[in-house]
Amino acid sequence: MNILAIETSCDETAIAIVKFNKDMVKIISHNVFSQIKIHNQYGGIIPEIAARNHVLKIIPVLDKSLSQLKKNKTGNKIDAIAVTVGPGLITSLMVGIETAKVLSYYWEKPCIAINHIEGHIYANFIDNSKNIKFPAIILTVSGGHTNIILMKEHLKYKIIGKTLDDAAGEAFDKIARLLNLDYPGGPSIANVINNAKITEKERLNLSNLKDITLPRPMINSNDYNFSFSGLKTAAFYLIRKLKKVKGKLTNDELVKICIEVQQAIIDVLVAKTLKAAKNYKSKTIMLTGGVAANRELRKQLRKAIKINLPKTKLQMPNIKYTTDNAVMIARVAYEYAKRKKFTSWQKLKANPNLKI
Ligand code: KG4
Ligand code: ZN
Repeated sequence: MNILAIETSCDETAIAIVKFNKDMVKIISHNVFSQIKIHNQYGGIIPEIAARNHVLKIIPVLDKSLSQLKKNKTGNKIDAIAVTVGPGLITSLMVGIETAKVLSYYWEKPCIAINHIEGHIYANFIDNSKNIKFPAIILTVSGGHTNIILMKEHLKYKIIGKTLDDAAGEAFDKIARLLNLDYPGGPSIANVINNAKITEKERLNLSNLKDITLPRPMINSNDYNFSFSGLKTAAFYLIRKLKKVKGKLTNDELVKICIEVQQAIIDVLVAKTLKAAKNYKSKTIMLTGGVAANRELRKQLRKAIKINLPKTKLQMPNIKYTTDNAVMIARVAYEYAKRKKFTSWQKLKANPNLKI
């Protein structure tokens, strides 16, 4: 079965065509047009500009995907069209949905409506998903969401923890902005740290920059919820205090703040995920979403599981499927297609607040 999937919920215009044969996944095309450079100059995503650029890019991206399909020797028909219907920016979602409707009507093929978050979860099932055993605990960390989800079987999710305010990616983005770093903030903060030499990092941790510390919000709370807006406020006051003395941050101060921001976010994410995995006796821990691209988070989560829950398997998506893409949308759509859960194009509707 060949599924064409469309993802336009935020600032990536993504189309993928994926062939499924039993649970074998063959990616025929995987195209993502990222608007990051466009939104970078505004320090964040401007919804109107995002939607306009989806309109400009959706046909070229579709055209490229279909020409890759034509070159494919294993058959070039499409059996179903999957599309993200929420959560996300309404006008951005609508571009993908209208495109899916036209294709469905013209090709007379069924549609599959997908929740963006379940797409992120299924990024874990693209490559070698054989190790994934249920129940699983999933840490979903993106720009718009930070959730701990309990998954007992395919397509069944229960949110057991969520952010009470800012998402982890949002905290990275907002703090990066306070530091005059580029959008998106997560990779910018990680780059500042990576570019600092190891010896320099060690020196910073031991040096007189000890007073550059940030809180780990809710790390000991009796639930699986998160709150990152306090971290942003603490960073704001810290940066303001340091700037008062010399007018601007020294490079050492910038690196130390970045280390502290990243570590504060990782500490809370890892602690809550392990706590949930232990209490729900989960066999697998999965990581998903844009922040899952953070190499330090991946490394520290792996280490913490090895030490504390050695019997629990860790599943992380390939880095290229952590941020928004359409392969993950096709992958979850296949689970719906297997169960014959289709939606007619007349019923497709954008829902910016769609819940999982
Ligand atoms: O999943 P995603 O592409 O879009 C949403 O659905 O929100 O996630 C984007 C988020 C941004 O907040 C970005 O700063 C964060 O993922 N991000 C990272 C890294 N790469 C992307 N955060 C930390 N470290 C990274 N390497
Ligand atoms: Zn996303």
